[in-house]
Parts: sequence; C-alpha cells; structure tokens
Amino acid sequence: MKEFKRYLVTSALPYANGPVHIGHLAGVYIPSDIYVRYLRLRGRDVVWVCGSDEHGVPITIKARAEGVTPQDIVDKYNAVIKESFHELGISFDIYSRTTSPVHAQTASAFFRTLYDKGEFTEQTTMQYFDPEAGVFLADRYVTGTCPHCQNERAYGDQCEKCGSTLNPTDLIQPRSTITGGAPVMKETTHWYLPLDRHEGFLRDWILECHKEWKANVYGQCKSWLDLGLQPRAVSRDLDWGIPVPVEGAEGKVLYVWFDAPIGYISATKELTPDWEKYWKDPQTKLVHFIGKDNIVFHCIVFPAMLRAHGGFILPENVPANEFLNLESDKISTSRNWAVWLHEYLEDFPGKQDVLRYVLCANAPETKDNDFTWKDFQARNNNELVAVLGNFVNRALVLTGKYFDGAIPAAGSLTDQDRDVLAELPRLRTSLEENIEQYRFREALRDAMAFARLGNKYLADTEPWKVYKDDPGRVATILNVSLQITANLAVAIEPFMPFTAAKLLGMLALDKPSWETLGSAEIIPAGHRLGTPELLFEKIEDAEIERQLQKLADARKSNEEGNREAAVEPQKGSIAFEDFGRMDIRVATVMEAEKIAKTKKLLRLKIDTGFDKREIVSGIAEYYTPEELVGRQVLVLVNLEPRELKGVLSQGMILMAQDPATGRLTLMSPASRVGPGAVVK
Ligand code: MF3
Ligand code: ZN
Repeated sequence: MKEFKRYLVTSALPYANGPVHIGHLAGVYIPSDIYVRYLRLRGRDVVWVCGSDEHGVPITIKARAEGVTPQDIVDKYNAVIKESFHELGISFDIYSRTTSPVHAQTASAFFRTLYDKGEFTEQTTMQYFDPEAGVFLADRYVTGTCPHCQNERAYGDQCEKCGSTLNPTDLIQPRSTITGGAPVMKETTHWYLPLDRHEGFLRDWILECHKEWKANVYGQCKSWLDLGLQPRAVSRDLDWGIPVPVEGAEGKVLYVWFDAPIGYISATKELTPDWEKYWKDPQTKLVHFIGKDNIVFHCIVFPAMLRAHGGFILPENVPANEFLNLESDKISTSRNWAVWLHEYLEDFPGKQDVLRYVLCANAPETKDNDFTWKDFQARNNNELVAVLGNFVNRALVLTGKYFDGAIPAAGSLTDQDRDVLAELPRLRTSLEENIEQYRFREALRDAMAFARLGNKYLADTEPWKVYKDDPGRVATILNVSLQITANLAVAIEPFMPFTAAKLLGMLALDKPSWETLGSAEIIPAGHRLGTPELLFEKIEDAEIERQLQKLADARKSNEEGNREAAVEPQKGSIAFEDFGRMDIRVATVMEAEKIAKTKKLLRLKIDTGFDKREIVSGIAEYYTPEELVGRQVLVLVNLEPRELKGVLSQGMILMAQDPATGRLTLMSPASRVGPGAVVK
C-alpha cells in the first residue's frame, strides 16, 4: 500500500439554491466528517475543503421565479447551509463559495491555461434563442409538450411526468419560460473538453489502477468508458457565472460543472498559502466525497481537466454513496419531500448526534437506503439510550455511590476481566481498518461495540449484588468499566463529537489521544470524576408523529400545488349575449355503443326532450356504454352538426377535465330534472 504524507479531502459543493437535507448528509457530509475527524485524531496532516456551488441555471430560474437576483438567492442559501453544517458539527477547515473573487480568478486562469494549450475544441451548434428577451435559452428555460406522453409542461432536458430525457428540440410547441414566446434557432459557439482524447488514460488509470474503488463507483466509470467518451461543452450562454476569458466570448460563462470542482482548489488557496503542496505533491492523498449523481464529474471529467492542465495530482479514491430515500420515497427539493437540516436542528435542539448516528448507521454505502422516523426513534431509544447511555450512566453512578466519584484502583484481574480488556485493542484495529476503507457503518458498529461490551460486562458481573460481600471486587469491576468508558469516549468522537465531549466532561478528562484507544489504563486510580448527566433521552411517539404529520402536510400541499399549476388560466371575457347564444340542455342517454376501430369514441342516442338525436362523444376511455344508458347529461344542442366516422353528430356532451390527471368526467344536474331543461 502506498504511503502518503498528507491528505486533501473534498466534499461535494452543495448548490446554493436550497437548504441541505438528510440525503446530502448521509451521502456526503457525515461520512467525510467522520473520516477527517479520525485523521485529525491520528495526528495526520489533513485539509478538508468545501463551499457553496453558486452558479448554474437552476439558481437563475429560482431568482427569476422569486423576483430577486441570483446573488440574493446564493447569499441566502449559502448562509443557511453554512450555519446548519456548523451546528451539526461538520468540521470543514474552510467553507467557501464559488462566487468568491479568488475562485473567479482561479477558475478563469484554469480555463485560460487549457485554452492556450489547445486542450479545447470549438463547435458551433444551433440553439434555442428567445428573440424578445435577447438571450439563448438553457435547456431548463424551454418548456413544451413531451413527444412521448403529451405532458404539456415538459422541460428541455427532461419530462418529469414520464421521466424521459429530452433535448429542447424534441419538445412540441416549445416556449421560452422567460417571455412565454416561441423561441427561434440561432447559431452559437462553445468550447468543448474532448474527453475522447483522455479515454485511453482514464481507462488505464481507473479500470486498471483503481480496482479497489467501491463497486458502485468503479461500475459507473466502467459503463461510461465502455460507451465511449464524447467532447463536453464547458461554456454556456448565460448571464450568471464566470465569464469565459477569451476575446469575443461576450455573454458566455463557464459551465457550472467546469467551475465548481475548481472550487476545491480555490477553497484550498483561500485556506492556506501552502495550498500547492496539497494539490501538487504526489505524496498527498486526495479523496473526493460525493453522491452517486456526481461520479462522472469527479472520476472522469475533473481528472481529465486536471490532467489537461498538468501539475495536479488525481484523486486516490472517490467513495461515492448511493441515495437515501425518505419514508420509501425519493427525496426531492422541489417536492419538499425531505428532512431539512436547519429544521431538524430547530425541532430537536441538542440532538445533533442522534441524527449523525442514525444517518451513519443507515448510510447508503452500497445501495439506496430508506430513512424512516420510526427507525430514527428506535435507534435512539434502543441503541443510544439503552446501550450507550445506559452503560455510561451505570458505570458513573455506581462509582459515585460506592467510591464517592473517584475511580478505584483495580485489584487482581479475573479471566473475565482479562477477556473483556483484550477486546479493546481488537475493536480499535477493526474500527481503524473500517474507517480507512470508507466503511463507516461498520466503523460505527465497532465504536458502539465498546458500549455493548461494557454493558454486557456490567450485566455479567453485577457489581450491585457483589458490593455487600466483596467491595474489593467491585473496585476492580468499576475500574475496568471506567476504562471501557474512556475508550468509548475516544472511539465515538469521529461519529458523535458532542457526546464524546460531554462524556469526557463527565469523566473530567482532557481529550485523550487516539493512541490511548485500546488501553486498559486511560484513567489513573484516584482520579475524581465529574458529575454524571444523561447522554441521551428517549424520543416519544408524539415527537415522531409530529414529524410524520409534517411530511404528510408537505405531500398534501405539494399535490395541491401540482393541481394548481396545471389549472388553465381564465379565458378573455365575453358579453352576456355570447353566453346566451349557447343552447345547453339536460338530455337523457337512451342508447350507447362503441364506434368500431376507434379507442375513444362512443355513439350516443339522446333524448333532448324535444327530439331524439345522435351524438359522437370522445368518452370511451372513461365510460362503458352500459354505464351511460339512462344517465342525464348536459348537451350543447345548437353546435353545428358535424360528421364523425360516418355518423352525423348533432351537439356536444359537456364534460369536465381534471387538471391533474386529464381525466374527463360527465356533468349531470344535481337533482333529476325533466329532459329538455335549459341550462342558464
Ligand atoms: N453542486 C453539485 C451537486 O450538488 C456538486 C458540485 S461538486 C463540485 O450535485 F465538484 F463540482 F464542486
Ligand atoms: Zn413525457
């Protein structure tokens, strides 16, 4: 195994267009915080950088929708994100932002170097342009009808109804979301990073030299590489971003996925004048923590950029996680289906470590996983309270009771004591291996194993029963128990730093070094302990119900919002006489049959009260002929007759169309009236 002198750890820069949720935390920020805290405890030279990703089209769309500037949006969310990370104990060395001047300068110079070295190609393509607004339209700025499912609100890159990936030119009746007008095609030139030129290198570097990468990461890279890499545009026509530093590139900015990863470099520069040794010395181990949707950018595109530039190291590992779902449903910012960090911190003050624990214990390390509030409650009550809290509390309270809060010296050890103590270094080794291999769930189990071990030891030795006859034996038991407690305080620090600090306070210990982990002599005999307090408290059903209710409310308002979104706006006003010219009547359906070779059409015979006539109606998808016979319906009777499929249709049956589903439903009078009744 290669030895490294220092570490550079990066965590995906969150988009500053919304707050952070549990999916981000479980996938990226909690694992990386554990990793870095561990490295620091081991005394390694490590720098950990992150920051807000503040460019890109979604931010401009959000700004437009809210009637504010993109800068307002990123200022707002950068502050929310930064503050909530801090409160959760996410211990970045720097949390920067891609709107910082250092970043603009760094990204711009990076682009210019590649440009000057001839590492880009140029391509001119046709793109949608909004003539009224005078701007090119990013894919998300074009909406229209999906060619696959006829959804009228599909985006230029995707139809959210049927899930198809689209190009803006696939849309039927495209419209600009800026002015609502029809866009036109116009030529535009962009710079491309020819990934195909790097394919041979990437194949070798990833597929041959990094077989140790996680299976999900390696597999995704392999399928990209097997498909063959294409040049990727690295510029966009947009007025929000870092200007392309080339003459004649007015109105063009760096593509957000070009500038954002350079943000890791800028942040390191802002952190330390010594930044180059972290980025350029091959003895630095670079590790990118990301979610699975970022794999291609971090394993293929960014390494190609770094290599094209020259002089930079490449990542040693990219331990990407899969996705976390919430109550069996995909987490979604736009549908507000999420547990937001800043709201959690408000709803559960002082319970940072509970969230950290649950999200690590259930992290989507090898497959998508599900967060449920019931599981959150169960893990808190059955693991943190019943195992960890209970063990620590018993060890401390018993020492208070029998030895006045000073740790007793151990007498001679029994086999049982020796067995328990022998477990400590073994757990340490396992914990270390698991963290170094990015298996944080397993590592957390190891840390908790110190508490399980202690709990079992107390249950087996039962000092409360022994004290009367053999206080010397109890001194040994409690000495051993408190050594385990001190081990526990060290072991849980990367995972639950608030609890570790509290526990050390209760033991009245300064932070012991990691090197003491596994030792049976962390606390000297005679050391006076602090005051025991409860580390965790039970979470009651009512609190969980409140959270579930919050989600149910979000789902409801989301469904209502969708309906509203699809409701047609009111048409222009008409004169009363215009309405009076329509002759709408209540009629009774006498006969109904399907029209052969059509899917939607029924031929109806109706009684209008003054005549009997035939009407062709497009409701066969919603009603069977049997259901219709005998029903009263509303009919526009003076509509010009029209021949449809060889039948003269005399009038139109009125129906309401559900805005969310598009379903048609018949209109009937609320109580039965005589046929021929006028609707007015
Ligand atoms: N903002 C991106 C996301 O949330 C991540 C950017 S990571 C970086 O998916 F490398 F580009 F910075
Ligand atoms: Zn569709």
